[in-house]
Amino acid sequence: MRTQVCKMFGIEFPIFAFSHCRDVVAAVSRAGGFGVLGAVGFPPEQLEIELNWIDEHVGDRPYGVDIVIPGKYEGMGEVDPHKLEEMLRAAIPEQHRTFAKKLLSDHGVPELPEGEHPVQELLGWTAATATPQVEVALRHPKVRLIANALGTPPDEVIAEIHGSGRRVAALCGAAKQARSHQAAGIDLIIAQGTEGGGHTGEIGSVVLWPEVIDAVAPTPVLAAGGIGSGRQIAAALAMGAAGVWTGSIWLTVQEADAPPAQRDSYLAATSKDTVRSRSFTGKPCRMLRNDWTEAWEAADAPKPLGMPLQFMVTSEAVSRGHRYADKAKDVMFNPVGQIVGRMTAVRPVKDVMYDLVQEYLESVERLENLTATE
Ligand SMILES: Cc1cc2nc3c(=O)[nH]c(=O)nc-3n(C[C@H](O)[C@H](O)[C@H](O)COP(=O)(O)O)c2cc1C
Repeated sequence: MRTQVCKMFGIEFPIFAFSHCRDVVAAVSRAGGFGVLGAVGFPPEQLEIELNWIDEHVGDRPYGVDIVIPGKYEGMGEVDPHKLEEMLRAAIPEQHRTFAKKLLSDHGVPELPEGEHPVQELLGWTAATATPQVEVALRHPKVRLIANALGTPPDEVIAEIHGSGRRVAALCGAAKQARSHQAAGIDLIIAQGTEGGGHTGEIGSVVLWPEVIDAVAPTPVLAAGGIGSGRQIAAALAMGAAGVWTGSIWLTVQEADAPPAQRDSYLAATSKDTVRSRSFTGKPCRMLRNDWTEAWEAADAPKPLGMPLQFMVTSEAVSRGHRYADKAKDVMFNPVGQIVGRMTAVRPVKDVMYDLVQEYLESVERLENLTATE
């Protein structure tokens, strides 16, 4: 499994793990992979706390930070986060807020207790809110990679990261986006097939990976979308990927911080239970299908707004869902990919890593036996 990205980052296995949970990030890097902290939900001050914690728990291993600067979003161009938030808030139709609130009350999800505030409405998915996160990340020497989702990051952000001696990665769901990333100087391209959890495109991994690999060679490509076993890693490397980028499988590890009721939903779900829905964030995002996603599909439902407006409407639902996960099961935001069907047990990160590597080795051996002459 010694690929060029192992040398690039000084890691043992080219297995990248995206997670919003710092414990998972540190555990993956300690186990020889490369943990990447999803920063989108953290205001800069909180991100600083999370990264300090990882620095203390990751030993001398490297890790990464993932930000979200979409190629297209409402209010693009406004760089002052407060002005942007005010401007966007004024653009939200009351009908959307009423619809969301009614869904929660119809399902008996309690209001947040007095004094407890919902997550920020405007998350870090604009240039105005993500750029300060980059500043924070670059102050941490063990952060060796900044990854961006939903578009090619602006030139000045790429230049700043490169200037600090770090690498830049960007996700894509089509070869055309991969070429734009490459033209902008991105070091590592992550090709995510439609089966992946979170925001995702329409092309399946088996078709997408070789298409992107060929489109941007010799730029290294990480294969993402649907990976939950060593066999799938072997397939990705056989196609020419320089490594794999995983997300869903870390939602049910022992170290993960999902509320128990949400974890149970993931453990019980089959590969048929996900849907690409715009109902939480405004862009197509793969999650468990439930009453919430169905309600926004109904003919009389308001049409989901663009990013970041839709999340400004739904952030309260996300917070109340987390706070009362056992009561909110049917209306919770449960982003996850189709591999959820194979996520059936809670195990520590190091066991998951061990199995991924072990099964990869068995797969390679099986193939070698196919070509061995007597
Ligand atoms: C719960 C969840 C949240 C995610 N949030 C982000 C994000 O904020 N930024 C990002 O680059 N990717 C995000 N992703 C996508 C992952 O980075 C990764 O590409 C994807 O999970 C790979 O497919 P898989 O889920 O089949 O492993 C998210 C995925 C999940 C499951």
